[in-house]
Amino acid sequence: MLMWDGLYSRALERAKGALPGTGRILLAYNTNIDAVKYLDPHDLEGRIERAGRDEVLRYSEELPDRIREIPHLLGGILWSIKRGKAAELFVENMHVRQYMREWGWNELRMGGQVGIMANLLGGVYGIPVIAHVPQISELQANLFKDGPIYVPKVEKGILKFVHPKEFSGDEESLTHYIYEFPRGFEVLGIRAPRENRFIGSADDYNPNLYIRPEFRENFEEIAEMVQLAIISGLQALTKENYAGPFEEIERHLEILNERGIPVHLEFAFTPDETVRRKLVDILGKFTSVGLNEVELASVMEVLGEKELAELLLAHDPVDPLAVVEAMRKLAEVTGVRRIHFHTYGYYIALTSYTGEHIRDSLLFAALAAAAKAKLGDVRNLEDVGRALDVPVNEKAVDVEGRLKEEFGLKEGIARVEEGQLSFVPTKIVARPKSTVGIGDTISSSAFVCEFALRG
Ligand code: AMP
Ligand code: GLC
Repeated sequence: MLMWDGLYSRALERAKGALPGTGRILLAYNTNIDAVKYLDPHDLEGRIERAGRDEVLRYSEELPDRIREIPHLLGGILWSIKRGKAAELFVENMHVRQYMREWGWNELRMGGQVGIMANLLGGVYGIPVIAHVPQISELQANLFKDGPIYVPKVEKGILKFVHPKEFSGDEESLTHYIYEFPRGFEVLGIRAPRENRFIGSADDYNPNLYIRPEFRENFEEIAEMVQLAIISGLQALTKENYAGPFEEIERHLEILNERGIPVHLEFAFTPDETVRRKLVDILGKFTSVGLNEVELASVMEVLGEKELAELLLAHDPVDPLAVVEAMRKLAEVTGVRRIHFHTYGYYIALTSYTGEHIRDSLLFAALAAAAKAKLGDVRNLEDVGRALDVPVNEKAVDVEGRLKEEFGLKEGIARVEEGQLSFVPTKIVARPKSTVGIGDTISSSAFVCEFALRG
């Protein structure tokens, strides 16, 4: 572990030195408001009884495809608690939206991959970002941190870039209700094996991947201004509505590819199989992809690798040899040059190129993730630095041992036929403040830091 402590400190110093020099980053497409509610077991139990326990329990066995009535919502929450797994469903019905609003929240936070990454990259790391925000209400705008965060605005036919607080749009508030529970949370004898959350999205824009006219009409000009791009928010599309947005995204990717701009896809869990398959089809147009074990397993499933998919979900910590096998398959099928896998306890990257900076970026990302888990919101680079005190996950020792044996890993790095495998054991916060947005923090920090350190 001593070796890792040294590598962590050095990576932090390197990252701090390099990050300010990163070029402008484009972030598209999903931003929303997260209304975070920390669940109370008595309150939840009362609500389940009033809504009809049997019906609620039914949906805790099998998730409905969207939320149309209150038992769907409460059943979805129970589904997540029972498994300690995250889930997100679209809330279609106005009366359930009203119920959620009245139930209330403890905190309003920035939400959506774009919003979370904009605040981290722009607001904390000080890197200029251009963000796609589907609707800019006053509340949404005020959730943006100060700093070099910009949205396009067209005034008298001229394209300008302003901070969201200066956009002055009187648009809708897109609210996602986040129901968080700690490890050991218990209701009706159901106990959460891990902390996690259930999300109900009362939002008619992000789930349909609405793209603003400012972006559609000026994308070439926007692409001219950036050096890196991160794309996210495709996860809620369905076979009914994906065709239009995919056409526009492929056009955007072509423009970015023509200009040689590296593009990262933040995968996120995509329940619709058709959409997942389409995402795999276009993955070669991205430079990089970020995903966790559930997402990697779901990709293996659409590639016809059922056994491998099951293996990825069978052990805790996740079997690293299965992870590497799956990453290699994905790289081979799609041609994507960088795959960043993250799970509870460790990260692995498979890249077609080599260098220590790839591992160092993963280390920096793990510090940012620990800071986010501990505080809920990372305020500055000092918060990231203080995460050096969080202990390195002990379970990752075995994981590292297996990778050493198989690939001759040294200080987290191994050369492989395709290029390089980079591994880091992560820092795990024992009692995290909340879990939402940690994945986004990990993926964006690692991707951006890697390009900053590339020199
Ligand atoms: P996602 O499932 O994509 O939102 O990402 C969640 C990731 O956050 C996991 O893969 C872990 O690497 C990380 N994570 C979750 N809980 C903690 C924690 N308590 N401390 C540090 N990292 C965490
Ligand atoms: C999804 C959710 C959003 C949340 C984000 C965190 O995009 O819709 O509410 O903030 O995930 O990763």
